[in-house]
Amino acid sequence: MNAPEQNGCDDAGRGQFKSRLGFVLAAAGSAVGLGNLWRFPYLTYKYGGAGEEGGGAGTFVLVYLLCIALVCLPLILAEILVGKRGRRNPVGSFNAIRPGTRWNIVGYMGIATGFLILSYYAVVAGWSIEYTYKSVINEFAGFETAISDSEAAQALGAKLTSERRGIGEARAGDSVWVVDGNPEEFKAKLIAKKAELYPQHLFSQFVANPVKQVGYFLAFMVLTVILVLGGVAGGIERGNKIMMPLLLLMLVVLAIRVLTLDGGGRIIGYLFKPSISTLSWDLVLGAMGQAFFSLSVGMGALLTYGSYLGPKDRIDTSSAAIPAIDSSVALLASIVVCGAIISFGLAMTGSGTGNVFTAIPVIFQSIPGGRWLVVLFYLLVTIAALTSTISLLEVVASYMIDERKMKRTEAVLISAAAISAVGILCALSFNLLAGYTLFNMTFFDLLDYLCSNILLPVGGILIAVFVGWVMRHDEKRQELACMNPIVYRIWNVLLKFLAPAAILAVLVGQFIFRA
Ligand code: PHE
Repeated sequence: MNAPEQNGCDDAGRGQFKSRLGFVLAAAGSAVGLGNLWRFPYLTYKYGGAGEEGGGAGTFVLVYLLCIALVCLPLILAEILVGKRGRRNPVGSFNAIRPGTRWNIVGYMGIATGFLILSYYAVVAGWSIEYTYKSVINEFAGFETAISDSEAAQALGAKLTSERRGIGEARAGDSVWVVDGNPEEFKAKLIAKKAELYPQHLFSQFVANPVKQVGYFLAFMVLTVILVLGGVAGGIERGNKIMMPLLLLMLVVLAIRVLTLDGGGRIIGYLFKPSISTLSWDLVLGAMGQAFFSLSVGMGALLTYGSYLGPKDRIDTSSAAIPAIDSSVALLASIVVCGAIISFGLAMTGSGTGNVFTAIPVIFQSIPGGRWLVVLFYLLVTIAALTSTISLLEVVASYMIDERKMKRTEAVLISAAAISAVGILCALSFNLLAGYTLFNMTFFDLLDYLCSNILLPVGGILIAVFVGWVMRHDEKRQELACMNPIVYRIWNVLLKFLAPAAILAVLVGQFIFRA
């Protein structure tokens, strides 16, 4: 690869990826995260329901893949191109390409978005550390005694009675229940219900604890800081080269396990058979928003990684690899989470972020070897989240290094401290600050809404307009020397027209059509 001093730029001290694979894995590492492992399966299930094949899940997956191919893929290349040409952080890159204009606002917006996303993302990421620990000590196994008979029976809609009534009677522990149907079946159901309720119980208890929430959040920030302090080649590249393949391998193992469950194969029809009747505005909106968040597009994370490429590095093929890896992980995660849910007939429990923490332990309880698969799963969530948080912190730190002329250590520590101050409020919005809401959202929810529904799409439109309309062909061609001319033309058209129009529709649509 090109050494920095060979490229004639005045930034010889700037870090650089040692190999193209290193870049692709780092960029894919940024993309693959909680968005894939929690959000994608959750949305697939939301649109697909507990139904069989031909439901909304297939339609959601199809629209999501179309959004990736037609909107996000062109944008990924555009974002990386700006970084590679500007060779700076998001602000500096726009300044370098169009000096003296206000286009650097896109960069400032991106840095602010990265700052905000990291402050709430690391809270959820912190949960994965606790859940790795919970699964190592097998805390989920204590469900039979932890949940009382009456709680489980109530959840099943059975009535407590002291009368003896013969046929519909079931004895579990000290209680006698009047039930419809077979008492033995009821007892089995009672135990299954306890297994399902317990993780929810553990989860609510965990998020209600302010000390744990802040502690795990800070622990995750420290992990992120350690990797980002290592710099581009040493920390980010080396870390991703080990973590990304490990993650893919773990997911494949889990997917094989789920597919070989009784009825596990049904998930394939569920995910890949779309039906036009389930198409709705809400579904398209959901799929598009997911594509943005999941691919880390629109805020300069990919731009920043692109700035660590050499001038001769090829970016068109690398750009295609990122969504390919990202969607594979998302689909594998859906096979694991939704597949297991469908096979077990479990209903997705908990709200939003809770799903991956409440459903997974239940599922794996009843799989042979599940006790260790749970450990593997949460370790994987932690790793995936970490490769995303390092890209978020790097965006903010690179701005401080390039524009504020700070040393890497100073830049990383100051950025992380400021992000932590905001993040602590997010960690507390599940407990101490839960009562403080604006538009019916806690501070955490508000940040998530603002970033994924407003800031990322607006950033996406601006990047598309900048590269599609403002940059000249000769400038773009210089960075894309090896790109096939026909592919280049298609990319340019998608970037100029389809991407901004589609994103605008999402943005405007979510205000008009949201109830
Ligand atoms: N794409 C990451 C995920 O799926 C989240 C992220 C968004 C990371 C934006 C960086 C920038 O979890």
